[in-house]
This record gives sequence, structure tokens and C-alpha cells, in this order.
Amino acid sequence: MANSSTASKTATRKPPYLPFITTHSTTLPHAMSLPKERTPPLTFALPPFHSTFTRARRTLSSPAAPSLLVHHRTVRASLNGHASSNGHYTPDEPPPNNGGGAREHRQHGHNHTDEDVDEMFFDGLSYPAEALEWCTTNPPSWNLTSKFNALLDNRNESAASPFSADGVSTRICAGDHNFFAPRVEQAFVDTFRMSSPYINAHQGLVFVIHVPGALLEESLFASVMEDIALMRIVGIKLVLVLGPQMQVNRRLATERMPTKFVDGIRVTDARTLQIVKELAGSMRFEVEATLARGVTNMPSASRISIVSGSFFSAQPVGIIEGEDFGFSGKVRRIDVESINRRLDQGDIVVIPNIGSSPSGQHFNCCSEEVASECAGQLNAEKLIFMGNGETLFDTRSDHTIPNLTLKSAERFLRLRAGGLPPDFRKALKYSVNALNKGVRRAHILNRFLNGVLLMEVFHRDGVGLMVSRDLYEGFRRARLSDVSGLEGIIKPLEEQGILKHRPRTTIERDIEQFVVIERDGMIIACMSLAKLEGDPLWAELGCLAVHRDYRKLGKGDAMLGFTERMAFDMGVRHLIILSTQSFDWFKERGFSEVAVEELPKTRQEKYDKSRKSKIFHKLLEGSRAVDEAEVLKHL
Ligand SMILES: CC(C)(COP(=O)(O)OP(=O)(O)OC[C@H]1O[C@@H](n2cnc3c(N)ncnc32)[C@H](O)[C@@H]1OP(=O)(O)O)[C@@H](O)C(=O)NCCC(=O)NCCS
Repeated sequence: MANSSTASKTATRKPPYLPFITTHSTTLPHAMSLPKERTPPLTFALPPFHSTFTRARRTLSSPAAPSLLVHHRTVRASLNGHASSNGHYTPDEPPPNNGGGAREHRQHGHNHTDEDVDEMFFDGLSYPAEALEWCTTNPPSWNLTSKFNALLDNRNESAASPFSADGVSTRICAGDHNFFAPRVEQAFVDTFRMSSPYINAHQGLVFVIHVPGALLEESLFASVMEDIALMRIVGIKLVLVLGPQMQVNRRLATERMPTKFVDGIRVTDARTLQIVKELAGSMRFEVEATLARGVTNMPSASRISIVSGSFFSAQPVGIIEGEDFGFSGKVRRIDVESINRRLDQGDIVVIPNIGSSPSGQHFNCCSEEVASECAGQLNAEKLIFMGNGETLFDTRSDHTIPNLTLKSAERFLRLRAGGLPPDFRKALKYSVNALNKGVRRAHILNRFLNGVLLMEVFHRDGVGLMVSRDLYEGFRRARLSDVSGLEGIIKPLEEQGILKHRPRTTIERDIEQFVVIERDGMIIACMSLAKLEGDPLWAELGCLAVHRDYRKLGKGDAMLGFTERMAFDMGVRHLIILSTQSFDWFKERGFSEVAVEELPKTRQEKYDKSRKSKIFHKLLEGSRAVDEAEVLKHL
């Protein structure tokens, strides 16, 4: 048994995992707070998510990543047993009282006091290999979870001494491997797990990020660059397009030169071009240097290099409606081949907004346009703008709009562009442009939110405005003229007993409940969606069928995604489906079985017991949940 002096010493110490956490958070720039002058319009539980990635970055990027596991095991070994002088552990023996300091003990042998445990969190990799052997062959036989929880709550002193003699005698239960998952760590695990499908889904895809000059002067700049480096490390191919507009405006003001924009394009004379070139160059160096710092913080990332240059050619905007735009240019051709070659090598490509014509003349180009054209011509998965925090609201419900379809965005711009803040208007305009060129999604993020890139890219809920291409071409509500086409798909399935029989008159009566996919004038899939009587939050799906020639092409998934979007927009939060043979298909798509008693009363009464259909339910958490399914399935 340890003597009382050891026990009291350990009782007043911090638990070993607390300094571990503190060490990580305090050494990282993410601990920085948001700029004081800007209050972000949205509040999210950002710190846990962001710190999850902060730690994940370290683990993913570290060549010592496997060792970090070992590091944990080392500690676990010492917590569950105590090293004897020959370096072996006996789980049931209490810690020996070695008298001197922990560091001293580690230097002279393998006996480990509880203080060693603290040290090992900082220094575990140098721990003797014998300790590791023990752990891999002997799982923990007891745990102190409740001690740790009590300790987290600062309940009492005795709880704060899990390694004291008292702690050892207070064994709780065998085989609980959650010993190292006290609540705070559990959040990390949950968040990291939640993001893993996204990490997988985004690997090898091209993202183009527009970096505004204003970002360089904000406290989160370094963090954003670190996050970009992390995105590269998890396999995303990145192109950064730089726009030094703010710096140029300021310099022009200093030199008492006029700043003139027409329709979002700067009128550029020779002196202005010179200033733009100078400031674009210094922005490029600044971004490269900060990015490199982010990258070199991560040992394995030394393989990632940053390349920059003029990867596009430009031509003059010219004279429009009598306005001579001088040296303002527009993108002529993106050097897709060169950029792709660099991306394939693992480089991050940085492109300033200066383009040159084949004759050697330089042009000042609108950086948002460059980003948009790059994204379009590179067939990028995403185009991301680091916006000023503008948020779109639905004035009817006062709810933030997290996503717009391409069509809605185009319509919104057509009707409302005049009243929008210029930067937001440009971001939206060039998002639409990119989507029309084949980019799947564009995002306008609030750059004042710490970790906003990670939140948007790796988290289901996202935090910005997303504009997505119409993934549902050919989807529409059914019309009476579709009845024969619908019967053509439904009848064979009714005959097999897969679908419930519906007379033609019923289909005609309920035609508005059907969604169909039309291809070359033919109905190739259908599904019905009907609100339940008496409960507007509930709706029932039915009659999902895909023409046999079009199965296994994702049409079923797309149909479900489309219908879920529709249902959510109609205010539905609970979706149900009754199925006799296809329940697995729905289970794999987030539905879970419920009893008939769990349905609203009116639906319970109509339940046909003779069919013995199973009932499946899905809670519609938000349109972003549907986006998730689309992202992960690459619809
Ligand atoms: C179920 C159905 C709508 C799926 O449409 P789809 O366009 O082929 O679906 P997707 O391409 O999105 O998904 C195909 C996947 O679903 C699987 N799947 C198809 N029918 C399934 C079923 N009854 N149960 C479980 N999985 C099924 C396929 O095997 C395929 O999986 P895989 O990619 O791992 O091979 C289509 O098979 C169909 O029309 N079936 C007959 C009608 C029916 O069962 N409707 C449901 C009544 S409630």
C-alpha cells in the first residue's frame, strides 16, 4: 500500500488527463477568440468541434500517430497495474511508494508512481517498451470511471485521487474500456466519428476556396490556413484564389486615387494595375508563408508543398456602355492541365487574381470570377467563399436558409440583386456561374466563425449558405397524363405483392401526391408523399418504384432525397413508410422500425393488419440531413 504522504500528495494533484487536454488547447492558435468588433450572427457549439479537428489534425498528420496510440496504452498500463523493478506490472498490486520525484524514478528504473502517469502524458513516447507489452496482452481489469467523473465535477478530494491507495481499493467493475473516455473525451470521439464519412467522401475531390484580402488582417487568418492544411492532409485537392481588394482600396485611398467599380468590376488604370500587382504579390507571400507554417506544424505534411503562379490567361474587359475598364480583365482560359498536375502531386495551388494575355499584358481580374472559372473548368466538387457573415432568412418563418437550389439562387439574384451587399452579391453571382459550369456545390461562409471551413466541410449541419446544382433533373410532381406511365411501373409490383393494389381511379384521385422522374418522355420512377390526417408533422411515403431498367443507378436514393426535401419544406418532421419486402432498403437510409401504437391515432385506425406490413419511421432533422445523404452517396 502507498503510505499516507503519497496519498495526500496525489489527492491534491490534477488528474493526469486534464493537463493533457490543457496542453493541446493552449498551444494552438484556435484558442483565439473571435474578433471583438464582429459578433457572429450565428452561435454554434464550435469549440468542441473545432478542437476535435485540431487534435485530429495532429494525429492524422503526425508520423508518430501509431505511437500516440501506444502512448495511451502506456498510461493505461500504468493505471491498471504498477511496474515492478523489472519493468513488469502486476495489476493487483498497489503502487509502490518510491519516495523521490517521478522524473527521477523514470531515469533510474521502471517503477512508476502515480506522478509518472502525469509525466507520461507529456513524455509517453520515451516510455520503456516493456510497459507496452503488458498492456497489449492484458486488458484493463478494473476502472475508475466514476472516480474520474466525480473528479471532473470537483466533488471531493478523495475522488481526486484515483491512483491513491484508496483509489486502487475502490475497483468498480471489470472490463470497462471506457476508462479513457471521460465525458470530455467522448465528445471528441463522437465528433470525429461523425466526420469520418465526410473525410472519406471528400477524398481526392477538388475544392476551390476564395481567400479575400480582408481575411489576412483578421485574427483567425492563421487558423483558417491551418484548417486548409488539414483539409489537404485528409486528401482534399485545394486551389486557393486570392483577392486583395481590401488592400487595394486602402492603398488607393492613401494615394488619394479614385476607386471605381462598375457592376462589381474595378476600373483599372495603369497606376492601379501596378498597385494591384504589388499587393497581390504580397498577399500571395503572406498566404504561402502562413499556410506553410500550418503545414510544417504537421510533420508528415512536409510532403505537401504550395505552388503559386498565374495559372490562367486573361483578356481585357474592354469598353462597356461607354465605360473603359482599362486594365481590368476577365478570365480567358484556366490552365487546367497544369493545375491538375500540381494537385495530383499533392500540392496546394495558390492563384492570385492577376492574369496575363498571350501578348504579355497583365490584367487585374475579379478574384471571385477567377475562383468561379477555376472551379467550373476544374470540375470542382465545391467552390467556397469566405464571406462577411451575411445570412439569408426566409421572411415568412424568420428562419435562416442553409441552402438554395441553383434555380432559387438565380431567381433571387434576378429579383433582389440590387439590395444585396456587394461582396455577398458577387459571391452568390459567381456561385451560380460555377454551378452552371458543373460545380456541384458552392458555399458562402461566415469567415468570422472559428473553424467555419471544417464545420461546413466535415459536419452535417454546416454553417454557411450552400447553393447546390439541381441534382433532381427530371423530377416533378405527377400530372393526370402520367397515370398510364405510373401504372406501367406499379402494376407488375402489385402483382408480385410488393406494392399494395391501387385502382386507377385512386391513382387519379391522389395524383398530386405522386412525384415522378421523367426521362425522354417516359416515367421511370415514382413515389407518393401524403400528410397524415390530423397531424401536419407526419407524412407517409408510399409506392416507391423504379423501372427495372433503371435500378441500382441511385434513382431510388435520389427519389427519397427529393421527397424528404419536399416533406421538410411542407413542415413535415416525421416520415413513415409501410413495407413488406423492402424494409432493409429503408433501414439503410435512416429509417427505424416502430410499432403501430407509435403512429398518430388516425393512422393507427387505418392500419391494415392483414398485410402485416412493417412500419418504419424517420425523423427529418433538417434539409442539411438530406444534403448529407446526397454528399455521401454522391447523388
Ligand atoms: C427498392 C427500389 C426502389 C430501389 O431503387 P434503386 O434505384 O434500385 O435504388 P438505388 O440505386 O438507390 O439503391 C440500390 C441498392 O438498393 C438495394 N436494394 C434494392 N432493393 C432492395 C430491397 N428490397 N431491400 C434491400 N435493398 C434493396 C440494391 O441491392 C442496391 O444495393 P447495392 O448498391 O448495395 O447493390 C427498387 O429496387 C424498386 O423499385 N424495387 C421494387 C419496388 C419496391 O420494393 N419498392 C419499395 C416498396 S415500399
